[in-house]
Amino acid sequence: MAHFPPSFLDEVLARTDIVEIIARHVELKKSGANLMGLCPFHHEKSPSFSVSADKQLYHCFGCGQGGGAFQFLMAHDGYAFPEAVEYLADKAGMEVPQDTQQDRGDEARQKRDYELLVRASTAMHKALQADAGGKAAAYLQQRGLPAEIINNYALGYAPPGYGFMNRVFGSDNATQARLESVGLLAKGDYGYGDRFRDRLMFTIRDRRGRVVGFGGRVLDEGGPKYLNSPETPYFHKSDLLYGFSEHRDTIRKTKQLVVVEGYMDVLALAAHGLKIGLAPLGTAIGERQIREIFRLCETPVFCFDGDRAGRQAAWRALERMLPLLKAELMPAFLYLPDGEDPDSLLKQEGGEAFAKRLTEEAKPVLETWVHGLKLLAGQGAEGRARMAKKADTMLATMTDSYLMQAWRQEAERVSGISLQRQRPAAKTEKAAPQPRIDVVLNAVEERFMAGLMQQPTRLLQLSGPALDFFIDKPPLRALYSRAFSMQTDAETETTNIARQLIREFPADQNMLSRWINQATVQDIEYNSLLLDMEANDIRSRIRQGLSLGESVQLQKRLRELQAQQQVLKEQLSDTGA
Ligand code: GTP
Ligand code: MN
Repeated sequence: MAHFPPSFLDEVLARTDIVEIIARHVELKKSGANLMGLCPFHHEKSPSFSVSADKQLYHCFGCGQGGGAFQFLMAHDGYAFPEAVEYLADKAGMEVPQDTQQDRGDEARQKRDYELLVRASTAMHKALQADAGGKAAAYLQQRGLPAEIINNYALGYAPPGYGFMNRVFGSDNATQARLESVGLLAKGDYGYGDRFRDRLMFTIRDRRGRVVGFGGRVLDEGGPKYLNSPETPYFHKSDLLYGFSEHRDTIRKTKQLVVVEGYMDVLALAAHGLKIGLAPLGTAIGERQIREIFRLCETPVFCFDGDRAGRQAAWRALERMLPLLKAELMPAFLYLPDGEDPDSLLKQEGGEAFAKRLTEEAKPVLETWVHGLKLLAGQGAEGRARMAKKADTMLATMTDSYLMQAWRQEAERVSGISLQRQRPAAKTEKAAPQPRIDVVLNAVEERFMAGLMQQPTRLLQLSGPALDFFIDKPPLRALYSRAFSMQTDAETETTNIARQLIREFPADQNMLSRWINQATVQDIEYNSLLLDMEANDIRSRIRQGLSLGESVQLQKRLRELQAQQQVLKEQLSDTGA
């Protein structure tokens, strides 16, 4: 994807006014040469956020955030770099250079699809207000949701029977096919039919606030309680959080965020003045969602039901978050009384009491971990041993080595057993942003990375020592370990990891696109590269001077590798490659 020529980026910036971009979110007043306002990235009472119209840069003297127009869109609105470029280029009336632009037809189609989704949301919202929506409106009233919430979150109603979408959009074939592709119609034996019928509708937006799908709750008995849009090009359940675009600004300002289980919980919180709730869409919370949560807030509270199922869900969430934890983050877990969810509790005790629970009853993640370990492991000496073992495996998934050491000490204290040192985690440290230096790769490393990026499932076959291959190349280290976690998380084997990486590491996009575009690394070459990589790794470890015993071991392994390499070379020459 996108490698924008520097001259193009300069031109986009030259035609952009950062003041206009920022003034949409921040009230700015002239002060000396610059403009000042309240920082949108942290909570403050007197302005320390400065924008320079001359230099087209912003900087907050309170929290230290700063940058240009692209950075503001990325930091504030959650755009990826290429998205920010395309957005501003578009605004400036500039063509995005050909090779970086998705197919024009694609773009026009996307725009139409988003419009379709917004219109569907509006139509459902209107249907809720109309006579036919009386049943749903009454239900919402009974659940205690005021008009302000119903309007601001675009709640709606999908009438019973088939034909609602056709009445809104028309029934020609092309329209029906488009409605199907965005998940509003389903194709059955008798043609297209409405997916959502006689349901209370929740409008789901992506992080940029675009409508991408819906959740629908039954009003009477029958059918699944909740039905969501199917996966579409715009609706990826595991990437989305209900409430994200609606609550982002409040969460940033108040530094409070609550993760809850359901749509109704998010809305009940909002109705009680707590516009800080987010919920996954009916699935267990995944790594990508947790990452978004941490980007938004350093102190999120994860709420769970106090019963067994709730505790299990909390443990799963905790396991998922371990690789993302840093000493700077302070997530907490709140168990609600058995059988209650935030919605029901808010009804009983109101918003203040719930807010109090958030601050007083939520337990730090470390405490939750230790408690969970104890529960899992059971009693006696065996229990303590099981606890130590489980702690050890879990610690190995952590990436902040300082935090990991602190956690290890805690697990050792509680179990009374000294844990083994976790090699990979101990070396994958350092979450602090590092100044970029260009990575220089030798030919083997270059081809090896190309082999991995071209066929990411290879990452899954890498084992133990391979995790360390790039630890001494800092910018690469982050890419490499992120690629692992993405592949482990990937829903399908064809997940486009390189594209995702470019989105997350825009500064590395040249390198990534080079790897992808290199001549294909076939299996036989890849296997040979893998041997070379290990051999080089061993040589450098030997050079670093190890004890005699270790060195002998490694020399032995090196000879094995060389023998295997020889076999591969012969195969290669046999196939004439
Ligand atoms: P209310 O029962 O109306 O209070 O909703 P709730 O949000 O409390 O529902 P519940 O606690 O039963 O479920 C929590 C979340 O799980 C919901 O918000 C949905 O996202 C999801 N969910 C619940 N039931 C279903 C279902 O039958 N199918 C699917 N796909 N998701 C469901
Ligand atoms: Mn509920």
